[in-house]
Amino acid sequence: MLKLDLSNASSFLPQDYLTSRMDALEKARVMLAEHNGPGGDFTGWVRLPVDYDKEEFARIQAAAEKIRADSDVLVVIGIGGSYLGARAVIELLGSADHKLAPNKPEIFFAGNGLSTDAMCELMDYLEGKDWSINIISKSGTTTEPAVAFRIFKNLLEEKYGKEGARKRIYATTDAHKGALKGLADGEGYEEFVVPDAVGGRFSVLTAVGLLPIACAGIDIAALMEGAAQAMEELARPGADNPAWQYAAARHALYTGGKKVEILAAYEPSFRFFGEWWKQLYGESEGKEGKGLFPASVEFTADLHSMGQYIQEGERLMFETVVRFDKSRGSITIPHDPDNVDGLNFLAGKELSFVAEQAMRGTLLAHVDGGVPNLVVTVPGRCEKSVGWLIYFFEYACGLSGYLLEVNPFNQPGVEAYKNNMYALLGKPGYEDRKAELEARLG
Ligand code: PA5
Repeated sequence: MLKLDLSNASSFLPQDYLTSRMDALEKARVMLAEHNGPGGDFTGWVRLPVDYDKEEFARIQAAAEKIRADSDVLVVIGIGGSYLGARAVIELLGSADHKLAPNKPEIFFAGNGLSTDAMCELMDYLEGKDWSINIISKSGTTTEPAVAFRIFKNLLEEKYGKEGARKRIYATTDAHKGALKGLADGEGYEEFVVPDAVGGRFSVLTAVGLLPIACAGIDIAALMEGAAQAMEELARPGADNPAWQYAAARHALYTGGKKVEILAAYEPSFRFFGEWWKQLYGESEGKEGKGLFPASVEFTADLHSMGQYIQEGERLMFETVVRFDKSRGSITIPHDPDNVDGLNFLAGKELSFVAEQAMRGTLLAHVDGGVPNLVVTVPGRCEKSVGWLIYFFEYACGLSGYLLEVNPFNQPGVEAYKNNMYALLGKPGYEDRKAELEARLG
């Protein structure tokens, strides 16, 4: 299903980049399979594509059907791992511009920031429309989605009354604990579960991602099938395992001085997949003063901006290029009798041919400029391929974290800003910190 080509990185890699890491990879494989490495309590995602709650899966599909029938808009409230996966898949399988992939309901995301203007714009847009809410928070206490939920819940209750609103609110949260769990139980919202052993950034194939994705009309069974195929193939140890190769290559490049990994694709709809991938790798590896810095670009657009730096700036990066083998449609470049733009040499050629040559030319230019290229090829923008790709990056991330000797499944650094924000907001219990921070801020 997925091909990994490392030939354009080989001149930057030591010959033994893989063989010298086979023992460590085998150890990592066992830790993931047996859930006994650092953060092992959060490796429930490893077998998720087959070991998932089938009854809940059917409820997700039924809820999505109901939302599709009774709502013009679904407002999905969540942040980080409770946001990016759904948006990544919906855009990649739909379009970067939701107006170009008309869908009922339209899906909008909220609670992923604190912008008053963004919220006002969405609230205005909802006027006169039928809509529902999917609030997603594993902890149930994250400030951004909790604040957004209060606001949108009030708005929904104003429109439909408390009883009517209750039937339009879907809560995805912990099975047992948390403020949102308590609220959902108390109000009688339909509930979906973020499994205990699955952390936010690994949760796209749970209800966290699946409910919004299904609401967008995407075949979630096919998505899971692609992931299950990947799970089966990538669990096999060996030098021909593409997840092993990818984890080993990126680790070798990192230790050799390439500190930035840029994920590049030639599809605008891939943009949020890049955002999801950045969270996956950045939050899993960036700790203890270590870790590749994950960045992403959209080609060819960014060749006219970031392309300059990639070609000639500090030599600190490598690229991982995701290419889709087949476009969905086909466009032939027309002949122009006047040929004022001088493009008749392309007349009759497909646009995808031009894109392919742009990609090949870029790859060689960047390699010549000292930027190793790892190329991941998937068949197309379809559910199965995307399920495969999600699992590939998740599994390789688990392996990579263990190669780096960090716990890939925690995120202690995320607490620092939260504690300062709580203190400055006057949250009870943070009084001393508030005084200290305010003195510093002047
Ligand atoms: O990966 C993670 O754990 C984080 O990005 C969380 O998903 C994010 O902070 C949101 O947390 P919660 O779902 O508890 O609101």
